Amino acid sequence: MKQLTISAIKEGTVIDHIPASSVFKIAEILKIKDAPNEASIATNLPSKRLGRKGIIKISNLSLEQSAIDAIALLAEGATISIIKNYEVDKKQNVKIPNSVSGIIKCFNPSCITNHEQSVTKFEVIDKKELKLRCNYCEKITTESTLRFL
Ligand code: CTP
Ligand code: ZN
Repeated sequence: MKQLTISAIKEGTVIDHIPASSVFKIAEILKIKDAPNEASIATNLPSKRLGRKGIIKISNLSLEQSAIDAIALLAEGATISIIKNYEVDKKQNVKIPNSVSGIIKCFNPSCITNHEQSVTKFEVIDKKELKLRCNYCEKITTESTLRFL
């Protein structure tokens, strides 16, 4: 029988196959520290595909699409499973979307989105190297300048 590293959960969400380097960033974006939900975070688990992977399990929580998109930007290929009564009810492989809104900041300090209350919006122009073009100033935010709102 397969042994789970972290106990199975009854209801909630499991994010598995996270590159180890993104685990704590995702935990931060999901605001696990401030939420009352029971949660487990594991990192540096052996993985055939990733070398080292992480898993996050959060009880009694379902993720909004914006959170799923944020996870995709940090951990494309991670799997998100919805658990109902201990069974996997739905499972998806997260994919980088073609556009994202209200998730990340524009890295350009003079962009209007950094000065006025407006929802940021980007077109993803390169999914492999992660390049996002701001709909307002057209500057390109990349992996190294990526900041979440
Ligand atoms: N899981 C859980 N609690 C449950 C059922 C499943 O925490 N009651 C977790 C598993 O540990 C796994 C994920 O949810 O991380 C998906 O479950 P499952 O599809 O059964 O796992 P695997 O077959 O290992 O899936 P994969 O091929 O995606 O690794
Ligand atoms: Zn901009």
